[in-house]
Amino acid sequence: MITRQQIADRVAELGRQITHDLNGEDVILVGVLKGACLFLSDLARAIELNVTFDFISVSSYGAGKQTSGEVKLNKDVDTAITGKNVIVVEDILDTGLTLTYLRRVLMAAQPKSLKIATLLDKPSRRQQPIQPDYYGFKIPDEFVVGYGMDYAERYRNLPDICVLEGGAE
Ligand code: IMP
Ligand code: MG
Repeated sequence: MITRQQIADRVAELGRQITHDLNGEDVILVGVLKGACLFLSDLARAIELNVTFDFISVSSYGAGKQTSGEVKLNKDVDTAITGKNVIVVEDILDTGLTLTYLRRVLMAAQPKSLKIATLLDKPSRRQQPIQPDYYGFKIPDEFVVGYGMDYAERYRNLPDICVLEGGAE
C-alpha cells in the first residue's frame, strides 16, 4: 500500500513540521509499544531539537484483528512528563479508543503540551472523537502490516506497509 520511499519522504516532512512547530523547545517522544517503534526511530532522527524517548504499553487488540473495545495500561512512562512537551507516537489511529485512553492518562500528569503523531489514520473506523496533530497517511478500512505493524506479532519487520490478504474480518 505504501512503499518504504513514500514512508521515508513523509516521515522527513513530519520531522520538519514538528521541528518548526516546537520552535527550539525540548520534546519527549512517547512511543506506543510495539507498533510505533520503527516510526519513532525514523521520526526522532528527522526532528532537529533536543529529543528524548519514552515508551508506554497498552493492550486493546489481543492477537487478532478485532479490537476488544477496552484498553489496559501495561507499562506507564518512566519519565516525569509534568511541564514537558510530549508527543505520543502511534502506528495507527483506528477506532480511537487507545489514543483517547492514553491522552487521558498522560494529561493527568499535566504536560506543558500533548500532541499526537500517528503514521496512519483510518478515519472511517473512528468510535471516539479524536484527531491526530500529525499524521503520515490517511488510509481506507484495510488491515495493514509492516513498518512496525503486526498481525499476531508477525510482519513488523516488513520495510513497506502492506495490506494483509483476507481483509479486516
Ligand atoms: P484503536 O484503539 O482502535 O485506535 O487501535 C489502535 C491500535 O490498533 C493500533 O495501535 C494498532 O496496534 C492496532 N491496529 C489498528 N488497525 C490496525 C491495522 O490495520 N494493522 C495493524 N494494527 C492495527
Ligand atoms: Mg498499536
